[in-house]
Amino acid sequence: MTIIYKHEPFTDFSIEKNKQDFEQALVFVQSELGKEYPVIIGGERFKTEEQILSFNPAVKKEVIGTVSKANQELAEKAMQTALTSFKSWSNQDPEERATVLFRAAAIIRRRKHEFSSYLVKEAGKPWNEADADTAEAIDFLEYYARQMIELSSGKEVQSRTGEINKYTYIPLGVGVIISPFNFPLAIMAGTAAAAIVAGNTILLKPANTTPVIAAKFVEVLEEAGLPAGVMNYIPGSGSEIGDYLVDHPKTRFVSFTGSREVGCRIYERAAKVHPGQNWLKRVIAEMGGKDTVVVDCDADLDLAAISIVKSAFGYSGQKCSAGSRAVVHQDVYDEVLEKAVALTKELTIGNPARLSHYMGPVIDQASYKKIMKYIEIGKEEGKLRIGGEGDDSKGYFIQPTIIADLDENARLMQEEIFGPVVGFCKARDFDHMLEIANNTDYGLTGALISNNRHHIQRAKKEFHVGNLYFNRVCTGAIVGYQPFGGFNMSGTDSKAGGPDYLILHMQAKTTSETL
Ligand code: NAD
Ligand code: ALA
Repeated sequence: MTIIYKHEPFTDFSIEKNKQDFEQALVFVQSELGKEYPVIIGGERFKTEEQILSFNPAVKKEVIGTVSKANQELAEKAMQTALTSFKSWSNQDPEERATVLFRAAAIIRRRKHEFSSYLVKEAGKPWNEADADTAEAIDFLEYYARQMIELSSGKEVQSRTGEINKYTYIPLGVGVIISPFNFPLAIMAGTAAAAIVAGNTILLKPANTTPVIAAKFVEVLEEAGLPAGVMNYIPGSGSEIGDYLVDHPKTRFVSFTGSREVGCRIYERAAKVHPGQNWLKRVIAEMGGKDTVVVDCDADLDLAAISIVKSAFGYSGQKCSAGSRAVVHQDVYDEVLEKAVALTKELTIGNPARLSHYMGPVIDQASYKKIMKYIEIGKEEGKLRIGGEGDDSKGYFIQPTIIADLDENARLMQEEIFGPVVGFCKARDFDHMLEIANNTDYGLTGALISNNRHHIQRAKKEFHVGNLYFNRVCTGAIVGYQPFGGFNMSGTDSKAGGPDYLILHMQAKTTSETL
């Protein structure tokens, strides 16, 4: 019998022993840097001439690893391998498949700080953010394994006298898993594990800025007993192998998490039926956000300011869930803004390898340039209240930035920036707040800070986002507790870490036997 699911606790770094253990793990990972990571297809290692160099975004000259880059030929080989492996893996007892995930969770739990240290180094995550990312990866493994066991006998349907009806779920086929840089362990592991435990075989294409952490995860699954060929690791260019595999007639489904631009491209391409394809591809696409913290006139204003600042600047604002807009009632606008500015002043920024740094860098040069450009736009559209400076001499550091007095339709209020920038906008009344909260193309997360019961009830119905929180931050959904996914241009609302997620990777079959 499996133990009831509970989410993985976060590490308390105020305890000296935990701090020391984490420091030791960082030293260990430092000694592992610069290694080579090959493409892995059917358990076989392929070293290619073209390589991806993974850097530490906080210390540009530090190479995390050199990763072989799959081209179309290797992508095709991986597809053929996955097709062959599907025959046996799809027939494997679901409990056995689940056991591989339980074992993988146990391995990562034992090496928790090591995985988090890779996240510090490769993704520029501060300790607490890295720890949460690793915990979430463990949660996905534990949660989906249990869900598969539950689903293995199908769901109840009625049978009349003289017949036996059954309703069961079977796997889909070969899936292409395409993951983003910002939760390079949790989202990559969660999307991969869900597909695998459901009986599919996969081609895993991690983000090009964070391929080493994905390689480490693949090693864990091998150690946990995943048969060769079930998960094939093919880092590479999105446009070269991404398009090739999305278009491939044997691709049965694509599970993508990333930007709206790439998600829409995948959605469109996957819709086309190619010669030799005898199904409609399924697409799970979880995309961007423009998430809002809304502050009511009777709210606890300290809580409001903390919620805004934490939602905006955790992991340098590089979360799809980040609160990049604060919509505040006119009566308390000035006070909340002053409090948020004061809190932001206290934030420390620097190499996230040091626990004392609240914020690390942004992921790479392209992100740095994009965010700095948005700050310039913000200065024209509103008033720069704090931050606004960047320094990319050693790593890609940008100060936490608040732009105030924005019009509700300003670009800073509409477009995903994906950096440490939050825009403030004043609202007349509660109706106006909801109107602004719903005025983007997105619909991922949101928070309402309010002590008004009636407003809370209204927001439940009228604040149109996939994950809505009250009197807290709008980030940090927990697997199995706050299933995660957004509306509108935020994606297909697959609700990762929720009770309906696994079924998206399967098809239901009805059998009716006459006695
Ligand atoms: P991205 O879209 O740039 O890249 C995501 C992945 O897509 C990468 O692996 C990339 O190599 C690949 N890719 C690029 N072009 C491709 C193509 N033509 N075909 C196939 N794959 C291709 O996103 P990112 O910068 O890594 O991540 C940040 C974005 O992800 C933000 O917009 C953020 O909001 C979003 N995100 C959403 C969620 C969610 O659950 N809704 C979670 C995390 C991140
Ligand atoms: N699941 C992540 C969060 O909620 C994206 O912040």
